[in-house]
Amino acid sequence: MNWNFTEIRANARTEILGASDLKELEAVRIKYLGSKGLLKEVYASFATIAPEQKAAVGKDANDFKVEFTEAFDRKRKELEEKESSLKAPEVDVTLPGVAPFIGRPHLLTQVIDEICRTFEGLGFAVHEGPEIETEFNNFSALNIPVDHPSRDAFDTFYLKAKDPDNKERNLLLRSHTSPGQIRIMQRFKPPLAVVIPGKVYRPDAVDASHSFMFHQIEGLLVDKRVRFSDLKGLLTEFCKRFFGEDIDMRFRPHFFPFTEPSAEVDIRWEHGRKEWLEILGCGMVHPKVFEAVGYPKGAYTGLAFGMGIERIAMLKYGIRDIRTFFENDVRFLEQF
Ligand code: DAH
Repeated sequence: MNWNFTEIRANARTEILGASDLKELEAVRIKYLGSKGLLKEVYASFATIAPEQKAAVGKDANDFKVEFTEAFDRKRKELEEKESSLKAPEVDVTLPGVAPFIGRPHLLTQVIDEICRTFEGLGFAVHEGPEIETEFNNFSALNIPVDHPSRDAFDTFYLKAKDPDNKERNLLLRSHTSPGQIRIMQRFKPPLAVVIPGKVYRPDAVDASHSFMFHQIEGLLVDKRVRFSDLKGLLTEFCKRFFGEDIDMRFRPHFFPFTEPSAEVDIRWEHGRKEWLEILGCGMVHPKVFEAVGYPKGAYTGLAFGMGIERIAMLKYGIRDIRTFFENDVRFLEQF
């Protein structure tokens, strides 16, 4: 029998290299080196080979075996590495863990929560109103006259959509949280005490102290004999609880259409120099507002106030630019 080892070597080589996994590779080994494999046939054929050829065939067979084994081992290693890299890496439980990044409430959310908690401690409930409002709730019901500049398109974002209750009027993005007062009084009878946090919108150009969207908290307390001294006592207590016992504050007369009398509250702020900074507007609810919500004439008195959250957060945490609240740079947000 004539064995063509050149061809056998070439075939074996191609088959080894072509094996795509360990199972296929093993099948190639069995075909050539297995107990019924090709090499066994070669040895078996010795009985019929001419004696002078035996040495050459024997050498070819041995060379083939060595070469095959080498190629086979190399391929096996390669396939083993490939297959183990596909498997999930083993977990080393002794390594320190990777701490997941855990977020936290935005600083403004924290401040809103803190203000709401403080008022809850003073007996107030927290309510929220919609950011899209009617012109009635945002202006008319709050005794803001038709020719008031804040009704102007330069000071308010009007929507194209019509007010379902008044087809003559467009809806708008609320320019303050005060329309929340109207919604509360239309829904509930006194006595009531609520704070209403939320976003408000004014088409201001953005700079270090202005943004077209910011946050306010509205407060409203209505009962039978609410007096201005209640307003003073309440807001003084709030400032002490929120800013600290020794906070310096003052009430300054002011004007708002929906309160009478009205005032602004300033707190004393030290940053190099001392100055008074306004933090809120307030006053006694105007009778026209009670009339607009259908409360019986003269039945109730009430106090109201509204404060800007960004302003308060900037004061409390020494932040100089309102834009940093909305840029959402985690290096800023992480600090609080
Ligand atoms: N709505 C006012 C504003 O945005 C703030 C305000 C002032 C609210 C006096 C009140 C108030 O409830 O009584 O400037």
